[in-house]
Amino acid sequence: MRGQPCEPLVNAVTLPVSRAQLKTASRQSRRLVPFNPVGSSQTVFEQARAKTIDTAMAYTLTMITQAIESRTFSQNPKDPVFYNDPYAFYSKLHKLGGPIYWQDYDLWCLSEFDAVNNALRDSRFARLPPAGFAKPEHPAHLSDFSKVEEYSLLALEPPHHTRIRKSVNQAFMNRRIVEMEAGMVTLAHELIDRFEGDGQTDLLRTYAMQLPVTVIARLLGVPETQTEALLDWSHAMVRVYTLTQTHEEEIEANKAASDFRDLLLELIGQRRAQPQDDLLSHLVLLQPDALSDDEIVSTAVLLLNAGHEATVHQIGNAVKVLLETDNDRSWIDNDKQTDNIVAEAMRYDAPLHLFTRFAQEDIDLHPGVIVEKGQEVALLLGAANRDPGRFNNANQFLPDRSDGATVAFGAGLHFCVGAILAKLEMRVAINTLFKRLPNLHLGTQPEYANSFHFHGLESLQLRW
Ligand code: HEM
Repeated sequence: MRGQPCEPLVNAVTLPVSRAQLKTASRQSRRLVPFNPVGSSQTVFEQARAKTIDTAMAYTLTMITQAIESRTFSQNPKDPVFYNDPYAFYSKLHKLGGPIYWQDYDLWCLSEFDAVNNALRDSRFARLPPAGFAKPEHPAHLSDFSKVEEYSLLALEPPHHTRIRKSVNQAFMNRRIVEMEAGMVTLAHELIDRFEGDGQTDLLRTYAMQLPVTVIARLLGVPETQTEALLDWSHAMVRVYTLTQTHEEEIEANKAASDFRDLLLELIGQRRAQPQDDLLSHLVLLQPDALSDDEIVSTAVLLLNAGHEATVHQIGNAVKVLLETDNDRSWIDNDKQTDNIVAEAMRYDAPLHLFTRFAQEDIDLHPGVIVEKGQEVALLLGAANRDPGRFNNANQFLPDRSDGATVAFGAGLHFCVGAILAKLEMRVAINTLFKRLPNLHLGTQPEYANSFHFHGLESLQLRW
């Protein structure tokens, strides 16, 4: 469906719809009205009946097309007004209810909480196309990038996903994460020490970006002297997931993937010879189901990219909303209240807004809307978390709310491996920051970066 030219469906319809939609609409109309061609052997009665059916079919087709048309939205994801506030767009989707067809992405999208949550848990929606359908391939100039992505958990489904996920879960035990807390607090203080005397900083660069990358380096067992390189590689690589990257950015992403792979292969070799107490050693040593070097490289790269970028932006988004809305700091040093703030910030302004799934069979999304086997569907996590049908006063930041879990970490098979680690990092980052700098306030009005999928700030200029 993606990339096909749009063409008019029937005369009665003025908005363009794609071929796949035409197929969907005509197939749906066939389901509603049995097809019955007029033949010479038919009686006058049969011919009249067939004519009625033809008219009914055209009518139904028009109705369905109009249903699709009324669900068709155009929104440029690179429009600054949009990426600074995608929630205004989401409100329109929620008013309509049901799936929408986002013309700029050429995708059917789900925005309601239940629909997104159910799709994440439904094996008919998978991260890979069904058997017999081609996997989306990267162009040749992204060959090194493709290599490190090959065994990424996000590029696998059972049984291969099950095997790697089990190994990662073992190596990623909660105990190990909890043990990291004291080191994270010390790290947060050290970072603040560096800029406290300046009276101002770009918190995104001096704090939010530094903390998660150091934590992930420690967890993996990558020397901390490499954190600047890890940051550069991660930034370069995640651009490829925005679906709006340039050719030059792809070349950079490929080089980053190749450099990162070289470093990891070197470290894996060292860990085989001399294991340490880190995640790379655990993955190398796991028995009986040891992962191959390529599987370990893919896993480590995913942990850095998935783990780092989202946490950076969630810290930035959370600090922003706290400074905009909350003058009461009674939550400082209260873990439970700080955890509530983190959870609400993740609902209110999450860093990851769009993930896609491939339909494993024809799926009725809504009356008149079928996604066909092999077609991609977008799940708008950021919209689901603002669904007024699920959350009271969904567009308000209310840390005391008790209306339940969000989908900010996903759900089902691909639920975030690093959720516990990320929540702990954010608790430490936010608590330490507001404790150390009680007069913290916004220096300039923060702007979001031009990257809708990774909904995070360009910079966060603060004063105190
Ligand atoms: C605020 C921070 C974070 C957010 C919002 C976040 C969000 C998500 C979401 C929504 C998914 C599901 C994607 C899908 O279903 O297609 C996911 C998966 C994943 N996340 Fe996170 N994440 C965060 C932090 C982390 C951290 C710190 C790590 C590890 C260090 C991590 C590692 C992963 C991995 C490995 C997956 C893939 C799991 C699988 O496919 O089985 N994430 N994350």
